[in-house]
Amino acid sequence: MTDRVDLSPELSLSRLVYGMWRIGDDKDTSPAHVQAKVEACLAQGITTMDQADIYGGYTAEAIFGGALKAAPHLRDKLEIVTKCGILVGAGRHSATRVKHYDTTAAHINASVEASLRDMGTDRIDLLLIHRPDPLMDPDETGPALDALVASGKVRAVGVSNFRPWDYALLQSSMETTLVTNQIEMSLVAPQAFTNGDLAFLQERMIPPMAWSPLGGGKLFDGSRPALIAALERIGAEQGVDASAVAVAWLLRHPARILPVLGTNSLARISAIGDAAKVVLDRQTWFELYTHAIGHEVP
Ligand SMILES: NC(=O)c1ccc[n+]([C@@H]2O[C@H](COP(=O)([O-])OP(=O)(O)OC[C@H]3O[C@@H](n4cnc5c(N)ncnc54)[C@H](OP(=O)(O)O)[C@@H]3O)[C@@H](O)[C@H]2O)c1
Repeated sequence: MTDRVDLSPELSLSRLVYGMWRIGDDKDTSPAHVQAKVEACLAQGITTMDQADIYGGYTAEAIFGGALKAAPHLRDKLEIVTKCGILVGAGRHSATRVKHYDTTAAHINASVEASLRDMGTDRIDLLLIHRPDPLMDPDETGPALDALVASGKVRAVGVSNFRPWDYALLQSSMETTLVTNQIEMSLVAPQAFTNGDLAFLQERMIPPMAWSPLGGGKLFDGSRPALIAALERIGAEQGVDASAVAVAWLLRHPARILPVLGTNSLARISAIGDAAKVVLDRQTWFELYTHAIGHEVP
C-alpha cells in the first residue's frame, strides 16, 4: 500500500501514480476494463491518475472519461493530473502542420476545457505544462495558470520536462506556486540525480514526479543483464517483482519522488505496488546505480 505526498496544503497525491499514456494501446479500451485498471490501482492505494491532452493522439482522456462516466463514484476517489502545450497533427489538432508547443493563454484555456469535457469532470487536480516552450512568454503563461487556479477548474499547477532555469522563469511571473516538475527518472535514465534537476527541486522542497520509471520497458529489453540479475536477486530476497525493486530505487531518494507507472497489465499494477515494501540500504542503492551508469562511482 503506497503512502501519500503533500504537494501543497490543498493537494496530496498518492506516492505511486498511474500513467495513462499507453491506455489506448491496450487491446481492451472499454470503460469496464479501464475501470478495472483504476480499481487495481485503488487496491494499491494509487489514487492519482496521470494524463495529457496529447496522449493517444488526443484520445486517451476520453477513454478514461468513458470509465468515469460509467462509474461516476470513482471521480471523488481520484486525483487527476493532466498536461497541455504540445500540438501535433492528430485528432482535434489534425490541421497542425508542424509539431510545436503553445503556452499562450488561449491555447492553455482551450486545452483545459477539452480535457474537462473529455474526462467528464468539473476539475483537474493538477495541470502541467508538458514541455518547455522556447516561445513561452512567462508574463502570459504565468497569469493564465494563476487564473485557472482562481477559477477552480484547476486545483494546482506544475510543469514537466522543465530545466531549473525554465522553472524559475515561469514561477517568477506567477502568484501561485508551481507544485511539481514531472521529469524522466529511472535506472535507464538516471541523469537527473546529478545534472541539477533534482537538486533544484529539493532545495525548494518540491516533490518531483518521475515518468517512465522502468525506462518505458527498456529496462527489460535484454540489454542490461547485470542490472536485471541484481533487481531479480533483490526482488527474490524481499518477495517482490524486479520491477517493484526498480521503482523502489526511486522511492529511496530523499527528494520524495512520485514514480508514474505506465503498465497496461492488471497483474503488473499490483506487482509494482509492492515497491513501497522494499527496503534498500545505501550499498544496495549504489549497486543498482553502478549498473545504471555502467561503472563504479569515482
Ligand atoms: N511528462 C512527460 O513528458 C512524460 C513522458 C512519458 C511518460 N509520461 C508519463 O509516465 C507514464 C509512464 O511512462 P511509461 O509507460 O513509459 O512507464 P514505464 O512504467 O517505465 O514503462 C511501461 C512500459 O514498460 C512495460 N513493462 C513494464 N514492466 C515490464 C516488464 N517486467 N517486462 C517487460 N515490459 C514491461 C509495460 O508493458 P505492459 O503494459 O505490458 O506492462 C509498458 O509498455 C505515462 O503513462 C505517462 O503518464 C510522461
